[in-house]
Order: sequence, then C-alpha cells, then structure tokens
Amino acid sequence: MSVFDSKNVSPRILSAFTAFIISTVNALFSLLLDANWYTPVLVFVITFIITFYLYYYTLQRFIYRKIKLIYKFIYQTKATRKEEFFYNSILPQKSIEQVSEDVQKWAAQRRQEIEILRANEQFRKEFLMNLAHELRTPIFTVQGYIDTLLGGAMNDATVNKKFLSNASKGMDRLVRLVDDLGEISKLESGRIPIIQETFVIQDLVSDVFEELSLAASEKHISLSLKKGTEGALQVYADKPKIKQVLVNLIENAIKYGNENGMITAGCYLMDDKHIYVEISDDGPGIAEEHLPRIFERFYRADRSRSRTIGGTGLGLAIVKHIVEAHGQTVNVRSKPGVGSSFGFTLERGKE
Ligand SMILES: Nc1ncnc2c1ncn2[C@@H]1O[C@H](COP(=O)(O)OP(=O)(O)O)[C@@H](O)[C@H]1O
Ligand SMILES: [Mg+2]
Repeated sequence: MSVFDSKNVSPRILSAFTAFIISTVNALFSLLLDANWYTPVLVFVITFIITFYLYYYTLQRFIYRKIKLIYKFIYQTKATRKEEFFYNSILPQKSIEQVSEDVQKWAAQRRQEIEILRANEQFRKEFLMNLAHELRTPIFTVQGYIDTLLGGAMNDATVNKKFLSNASKGMDRLVRLVDDLGEISKLESGRIPIIQETFVIQDLVSDVFEELSLAASEKHISLSLKKGTEGALQVYADKPKIKQVLVNLIENAIKYGNENGMITAGCYLMDDKHIYVEISDDGPGIAEEHLPRIFERFYRADRSRSRTIGGTGLGLAIVKHIVEAHGQTVNVRSKPGVGSSFGFTLERGKE
C-alpha cells in the first residue's frame, strides 16, 4: 500500500493501481473456472484496460477538472505556457491534502488583503474626522469674532482691534494648517522628488538656530551644538527638506520647552555610511503611552496645551515623511520631567 501512503498519487497511478487489483482478482477467478492459460491473461488485459480508462476518465472528469477550476479561480490568470505546465506536470503530483493547503493559503492571503484594506479605510475615515475637527476650531474662532464685531463691537474702541487681531490669528492658524496639509499630501503622493546634495549638517543646524533665535530668546531658551560634536560632518541629503525637519523639531523643543531651558543639537558619525542628528531639550517630556503615536498626523500628547500653543499636529508627521523619503529612520526618546530627544539618521556625504 505504499503507493497510497506516498503523498503524490497522480490520477494515472491511482487508476493503474485500481485496475491492476480488479483485473488480478478477475484473472484469478477465470483461472479457477478455466484450465486454459490464455483466458486469465485475456481477462486480465481486457479488465485492466477497461477499468483503467473508466477510472482514469472518472477521476479526470469529475474530480480533477473541478480542482483545476479551483486553481484557475485562485490564481485568476489566463492559460499561459507556465500554467499549462503547472496543470500538466505539477498539479497531478499534488495530493488532495496539498490542494487543500493551497486553498487555505490562498484564503489566508485574501483575508490579509482585506484586513489591510479595512485598516486603510479606517485610517482614511479617522483622518477625515480629525481634519474636519481641526478645521472647525479656527473657523469658528474667526466666525465668532467677525460676528461679534458686526454685531456692534466694531464701534467699541476698547475691543475692536483686539477682536480683529484674534480673528487674524485664527486665519493664521488655518493657513498654517492648509500649508502643512499641502506639504504632507505632496510628500505622500511622491510628487516632489528628493534632490540630494552634499553639505555640512552643523552649518544647517546653525542656520536654523539663527532663524529661531527670536522665538527661543522670548522664552530665554539657549540653542547650542552639543560639545564635542562641532567637528564638521558632511551629509548627502535634500537640504531644504532637512532644514524643514530641523525647524519642526527645534520649533517643538522651543514651543513645549520650559522657560530658561536648553536645546542642544548633536551630530554624530554612526558608521561609515550614516550620520545621526539629535535634537534634545530639557522640557516637560512626553509620557510613554504617547511615544508610539507621536509621529501620527494630528496626534498630540497634550491636546489642550498644544492647541493653545498653536500647533497643527502635523509637524512630526512631516518630519517622519521627509526622513523616510530619504530611506532613513527617525526616533524619539523621552522621559516626563527630564526632557525629549528626537533623532534621525542621514546618509553620510562624500568628502
Ligand atoms: N520637544 C517636545 N517636548 C514635548 N512634547 C513634544 C515635543 N515635540 C513634540 N511634542 C508632542 O508631540 C505632539 C506632536 O508634535 P507635532 O507633530 O509637531 O504637532 P504640534 O507641534 O503641531 O502639536 C505635540 O503636540 C506635543 O504634544
Ligand atoms: Mg510641531
């Protein structure tokens, strides 16, 4: 019975085996009834041929073709050379168990696809919901002030300027939001290419420090390069985009940082091919439960606080996009009460 034990019983072998058993039994019977030597042989041959073809035909027609249909459905392909080869040479070698395994594998794959689609759909829904929410706040603010002004406050010299300026701030917020959204969708569509050049990363950091020095000095925050990492390091990256990354990270460090705080930027040679840039602050830090989601769009660790500070919640999402578009990674370390460090890798520039 080893033929059946083996996993690869093709219909042909199965038919031959069955035909062999039946014709042997028949031949033995005819041997009992007839003393001739050729009658049993004749019976054997005829029974074998008839049984073999009958069996083979039945298997092919009623089982095999059905299975073939299943495979056609699974692979959803038109008959190609390769497929013909598969049906003629590989499929006959497959046992029913293997076929059922294939079908299960296929089903699992489909389930996974559906799972991904569902997750994307959920993501899209959440994004739209968040977006509507984010837009509503500044729009209502602006609308409120304008209505109040029109309702008579316009003529009240003690408040009219203040209300107008508040409405204008609301508009600024809207503009920032739309700008950031535009930035993110451009990055996502992959329409803006990464144009790399070689430059000294510390020079870029200093430029950004310079640009943000006013905002920092308002909170008496010092901006500096970390001691021992001032030695010029060349990176190969898209300069304006990396500048955007640095601006977003340092802006956050200033916005969320404590008065009289300290922000340092460290640039390290990681290995032959990579530079690591890290922006550290001694601010309030971020609780551990928020860390995994901090780079998501619109995610804020401290909703009320960050809203009043005026962020769009898109800064870190843009950072992540830009860094990943470079084929690099970004990470965050933070401890509440101690501070936060945002770091990212860059390709090392050729000297
Ligand atoms: N340096 C930091 N210190 C403390 N919290 C931070 C820091 N950087 C980012 N965060 C938190 O991460 C959130 C997301 O940051 P971001 O995407 O830039 O959005 P936004 O600054 O517009 O709120 C912020 O709302 C804030 O809660
Ligand atoms: Mg920000």
